Amino acid sequence: LEAEGQAYFDRVISEDSRIEPRDWMPAAYRKTLLRQISQHAHSEIIGMQPEANWISRAPSLKRKAILMAKVQDEAGHGLYLYSAAETLGQSRDQMMDDLIAGKARYSSIFNYPALTWADMGAIGWLVDGAAICNQVPLCRASYGPYGRAMVRICKEESFHQRQGFEILLELSNGTPAQKQMAQDAVNRWYAPALMMFGPPDDDSPNSKQSTAWNIKRFSNDELRSRFVGMMVEQVRVLGLTLPDSEVRFNEDTRKWEHGPLDWNEFKEVLAGRGPCNSQRLERRRQAHDDGAWVREAAAAYAHKQSMKTKE
Ligand code: ACO
Repeated sequence: LEAEGQAYFDRVISEDSRIEPRDWMPAAYRKTLLRQISQHAHSEIIGMQPEANWISRAPSLKRKAILMAKVQDEAGHGLYLYSAAETLGQSRDQMMDDLIAGKARYSSIFNYPALTWADMGAIGWLVDGAAICNQVPLCRASYGPYGRAMVRICKEESFHQRQGFEILLELSNGTPAQKQMAQDAVNRWYAPALMMFGPPDDDSPNSKQSTAWNIKRFSNDELRSRFVGMMVEQVRVLGLTLPDSEVRFNEDTRKWEHGPLDWNEFKEVLAGRGPCNSQRLERRRQAHDDGAWVREAAAAYAHKQSMKTKE
């Protein structure tokens, strides 16, 4: 039966078609997907925090409404992704327990602080911009529920990026102090945003297999280079600059290049020693504890309903 399953799986992958939850799949494929999708879900949930911190300080009612909707979208993304991960056989409770226990990864980017209102612009423009660049190819990931979740997520991320760009554009065209605030935010978020794409290709242990399984379509460095090319054009429209004098288009390779990144800093953040790691996890634990009564009430209600149907 396993040989038949493997043959079916191999055929689906070679035809660039889709694996669905009930299909046979190699244990390692399941494990890789669970790893990536749960990390992605956790990133969306932890990623709500830097922006949620600014909801009460948004400079106008309109900005506040937009930011609230955006943060709520991120919660929705987390929920679709937990659902997609659950189809692989792990419960959401287990994933949440792992996150709260500090055993699960989430994107490095969300361990940096959002210091000013301009950071809302830089997060939307750079962080959501990098997320789109990484996630559009994931719409074609070989695992059906993941690819389908990505389609809607990418549409919403496009709106998020536009709103971030617009915040920066307005600040850039404002007073000199506002323009400086926008530039400062771009300066601080640029390198961490480039690191979102993951370690350099020669230091990326999962890439080869994930590419062979049609989960990853482009390498970490390839996507990072494309992203730099997009930002170079857009930063001109903003009237700002990228804090990287080494950005250039290499005519020979036909790729965008950037200056060196501090991969030690990346490793420190992944090891839990970034500027906000402990604060982010503490906040998540607190939110989870605060929500205990809601979960208990929902479970009691569901139990009551199931007793009624039995009667
Ligand atoms: N932050 C935290 N951990 C990272 C990051 C990052 N930016 N980049 C890589 N890593 C981790 C990987 O998870 C992996 O760790 P693990 O083996 O313990 O799971 C390790 O570093 C080595 O990296 P790779 O071998 O390159 O790992 P992978 O093939 O999974 O590629 C990538 C990493 C590109 C992030 C991939 O997992 C991916 O595309 N994920 C989906 C997108 C995503 O999670 N986005 C979240 C941020 S965007 C947002 O939510 C708004």
